[in-house]
Parts: sequence; C-alpha cells; structure tokens
Amino acid sequence: MNFLLALARDRAALAIEPGQEYLLSCRLAGVANQHKLASVEALVARLRMGRADALAQDTVDALTTNETSFFRDIHPYDALATQILPDLMARRRAARQLTIWCAACSSGQEPYSVAMTIRERVPELLTWRLRIIATDVSQAMVDRTRAGVFTQAEVNRGLPARMLTKYLSQQGTEWQVRPEVRGMIEVQRTNLVEPQPMTGCDLVLLRNVLIYFDAAGKRRVLDRVTRALAPDGLLMVGVSETLFDDRYDFRVVGRTYVYSPKGTAAAPALRGASQEKP
Ligand SMILES: C[S@@+](CC[C@H](N)C(=O)[O-])C[C@H]1O[C@@H](n2cnc3c(N)ncnc32)[C@H](O)[C@@H]1O
Repeated sequence: MNFLLALARDRAALAIEPGQEYLLSCRLAGVANQHKLASVEALVARLRMGRADALAQDTVDALTTNETSFFRDIHPYDALATQILPDLMARRRAARQLTIWCAACSSGQEPYSVAMTIRERVPELLTWRLRIIATDVSQAMVDRTRAGVFTQAEVNRGLPARMLTKYLSQQGTEWQVRPEVRGMIEVQRTNLVEPQPMTGCDLVLLRNVLIYFDAAGKRRVLDRVTRALAPDGLLMVGVSETLFDDRYDFRVVGRTYVYSPKGTAAAPALRGASQEKP
C-alpha cells in the first residue's frame, strides 16, 4: 500500500489518506483484472519491476476521485453568465478571443455545463474565437469527456429537463451531447503537476481538485496554472475551497471565489464583486 500511495503522490500529487486502503483495494482489483494479473499484490510486483507505464497510468487513474455533476453548485454558473464572462468580454472586446480551461474536468459535466451556459446566456461569445479546453489526468475521464455520453442517473443530477432535450440526444438508455456542443470542447489528457502546454488562458476552472493534493502538491499545481493564465486572467476554485497563496487577490462573485494574479486590474473590475467572504 505504501508503494501505491507513493506512486499516486509522485505521479499526480494525490495525497491519499491512511484509512482509505479498503476502497483503494477494490478499485485496484479492477485494474489487476483488466491487466490479467491475479491480485493487487501481483499488480504491485509488476509495477515494482518498472517499464509498465500503461499499468502505472491505469493504477493512478483508479486512485483518482471523479465525483462531478452538471451545473455543480449552480452559483458559479450564474456568476459566469452575469459577471465573469461579461467582464472578460469587456476586456477582450478588441481581440474577440477567449480561452477557458477546465483543468480537472472528470467525465465532462463541467465543460459541457460551461458550454451550455454560454449558448443559453452569453450567446455573443459564439461569434468570438472561443476555446474551451477540458483536461484530466485520467485517460478514462478524458475518453468519457470526448464521447459526451451520460447515463440517465448522471443527467438527472443537475441538468434541467429543458436543457437535456435541447443539448443531448437519447441513445438507447443513455444520452449523448449533441455534436454542436461537443464541437465546442477540446479534450486533452494533462497532468497538472507537469509543465502545461496551455498559455494565455483567460479563465481557469480548477474546481474540487486541490483538495486531493497535499501542501507541496497544491503549490506545484498552482505554479503550473499560474503560468497558463493570462496576466489578467481569472482562476475559479470550488465553492468550498480557498487558496492561501499570496500571489493572488480574490473577489467573491455570486458566492464564488474568483482569484486573479496580484497587481492586475482584473478582479477589482468585476462588477458587484466584494472582498468579503460569504
Ligand atoms: C472530484 S473531480 C472534480 C471534477 C470537476 N472539476 C467538478 O468540480 O465537478 C477531480 C478530478 O481531478 C482529476 N485529477 C486528480 N489529480 C489530477 C492531476 N494531477 N492532474 C489533472 N487532473 C487531476 C481527477 O482525475 C478527477 O477527475
């Protein structure tokens, strides 16, 4: 187990708490099975031999927590539609170009919620050069996001019925996001602890992922994200997360924390923003 916890920490900065071993054994038994190994012990033995990159990747995948839902926490999407996107658009009006990065997208509900919010509430952006980049360390999650296929239980969580039938089509017992919405999302596998190919992002959603990292991991990830942000870009974390990083100013916008690199004019310009914690 110590070997596996070290693998999760080294490869993805994941800090797995002692006491979660039972849960992990269940998930890893599936990986062992998939790779035709007799047990989790055999999986560890194989990993210890080295040169088993696909196995190591699948093992790290299995150790990630992919909990997500459409329009999770709802307030951030209201804040996006009413304040954050209009503010960014006002500052980018000359270039008419905007890049949004969902930096830990899980199975895709978050980037598709962003895309649907734009279609419904900020349609002018569809005439801009808009990029919505969705990334995750887990190849399984990247594949799911790209496919945009969701079960009935998944669409029941957070997706209003009107939007379900407007933006997804039924495929047997499942639902698939319609091509015009899927086409708005670029999906890539990216490990947040490694150097990022992204630069000049106007908005980064880094929601509900920092909680899985220890202090050193958080710092590493924030270093990477900071480099990917435009100098006056904005960073949104989960509603129950707070950044203790003195490189950032924060504002509360519609019950959502929005951070911007210190010394830029970005956050104070956000209409209706306050520095009071909710
Ligand atoms: C709990 S989900 C959050 C999904 C979504 N952002 C939301 O708020 O609903 C966390 C995601 O972070 C991903 N993740 C964990 N460590 C990562 C890393 N080092 N690099 C990129 N993604 C990572 C996991 O695979 C998982 O899909």
